[in-house]
Amino acid sequence: MALNVFVLTGAGVSAESGLGAFRDEGGVWTQYDLSEVATPEGFARDPAKVRAFYDARRANLAGAAPNPAHFALARLQAGLAARGGRLFLCTQNVDDLHEKAGSTNVVHMHGELAVTRCHACEATRPDPGPLDAGAACAACGAGGMARPHVVWFGEVPLFMDEIFDALEDSDLFVAIGTSGSVYPAAGFVTEARRMRIRTCEINLAPSDNARAFDERLYGPAGEVVPAWVEGLLA
Ligand code: APR
Repeated sequence: MALNVFVLTGAGVSAESGLGAFRDEGGVWTQYDLSEVATPEGFARDPAKVRAFYDARRANLAGAAPNPAHFALARLQAGLAARGGRLFLCTQNVDDLHEKAGSTNVVHMHGELAVTRCHACEATRPDPGPLDAGAACAACGAGGMARPHVVWFGEVPLFMDEIFDALEDSDLFVAIGTSGSVYPAAGFVTEARRMRIRTCEINLAPSDNARAFDERLYGPAGEVVPAWVEGLLA
């Protein structure tokens, strides 16, 4: 049967690839003040500090490889398509591990770490290396405005119209490796329920939103996601 599946992933799907989550013990936001490194105000106050934070994250990403959860989601995309359905893969992650595992058309609602954006005109370009503080923007000429193409707190997530259209057109909503604490993504499960779409959570442990899901599967994503995908495609 053709099935349209909407998968939302969060930092937990990349945890086993060595990219830390945000709110777990030892997570990024337990080590850094997010108001300093992940807000437009923080960038205005101290751009060098913000660039150094994201340069370190870019360096981590360069050495990271996809794990079995990423590969399983790529298999799911191919398997659903072969059956006349589709996978809409929406991620809050700014890494490129879904793509490295073979997924296509990944919707990065919080942007992409290896892309640089001009803070003045919003022009973007692929650029995985250190952010160049001095470079003038090739599009508008502004100097000192290079920032990562990452949605900061207080900014509007990307592709929201496309995301809600896809959700409306889905038979199943699955959240994988996300704490369910950052909106609007944390509200997708409520929207899905309102549309009478079946919902499933896959996480290491119950998320903040756990009770909103019809089905819940707990354990490391690298183990649970491949088993879940096999079951769905069987
Ligand atoms: N397998 C499955 N889930 C895991 C694993 C794992 N190996 N490791 C951790 N998790 C779970 C955690 O238990 C937690 O519930 O993944 C979740 C990660 O939650 P967060 O760290 O809050 O990450 P996320 O939900 O993606 O954060 C959302 O917040 O800071 C912003 O923009 C940033 O996109 C991010 C957003």
